[in-house]
Amino acid sequence: MNDWTTSHARVLAQRHAEGWMFLIEAARDLRTTGAVAPSGRPLARALTEPVRVQAPGPLAVLEAGAGTGAVTRTLIPHLPRGSRLDIVEANRRFATRLRGLVAGHPNLAGRHAQVNVHQTYVEDLDTDQRYDVIVSGLPLTNFTPAQVERVMARYLELLHPGGTLTYFAYLGTRRARRLTASRAEALRHAAVDEVMADYQRRYAVGRWTVWANLPPAHVWHLRRPRPPAAPHSPQQAADGTRR
Ligand SMILES: C[S@@+](CC[C@H](N)C(=O)[O-])C[C@H]1O[C@@H](n2cnc3c(N)ncnc32)[C@H](O)[C@@H]1O
Repeated sequence: MNDWTTSHARVLAQRHAEGWMFLIEAARDLRTTGAVAPSGRPLARALTEPVRVQAPGPLAVLEAGAGTGAVTRTLIPHLPRGSRLDIVEANRRFATRLRGLVAGHPNLAGRHAQVNVHQTYVEDLDTDQRYDVIVSGLPLTNFTPAQVERVMARYLELLHPGGTLTYFAYLGTRRARRLTASRAEALRHAAVDEVMADYQRRYAVGRWTVWANLPPAHVWHLRRPRPPAAPHSPQQAADGTRR
């Protein structure tokens, strides 16, 4: 066997193990895990697009809800030198796995970027850091409207003005819930969609559909607005002109 064959076999074995781990965590707590399998590569690429767009300068990036690291693995090679990546994951077992992924990642061996894994809920993340990009894998449609409002408000607070939040939502979940869940669950989901629609109306800069994922998903990019430039003089402020 040559090197390529052995490394390819290792990657396949690793993906297989991650698939099982994800499934086991979903069986333990489907509401928080939010899916039965990690995101596929096309979805991971669409989610991490803002990192590629904002390179090559050093970036501060937050990944929330990283699971087994399907998106993290796509993200790390695109981090410009000198960047910082904070990974936040609520599930203790996933966080342990993510620490292993980061410790053994070849792109991080030469301190190419500073990467930390935080085992906590992202809405409880205690930091003064502000980010250029936030990549969210959170299963927002499983949360209460109040929790979604808290998470979204925290994301906007954590972004630099002009920074981008990128997240995904599986297609058809609301319809599936209407058909299979209780009325209370269907109403909760509809209320979450309302909260999200309000954020999308105010901040969305793009939406893509990734069909090559199980299930297919919409990827949204939202941008925190920059404050308007200060007027140059009181007189200019009064008559609304700039030099
Ligand atoms: C749908 S999975 C996405 C995993 C990975 N990003 C992917 O795309 O394969 C959602 C992840 O978010 C985590 N999670 C759920 N609620 C969270 C919260 N409030 N803060 C941080 N992580 C959370 C879950 O433990 C799970 O790993």
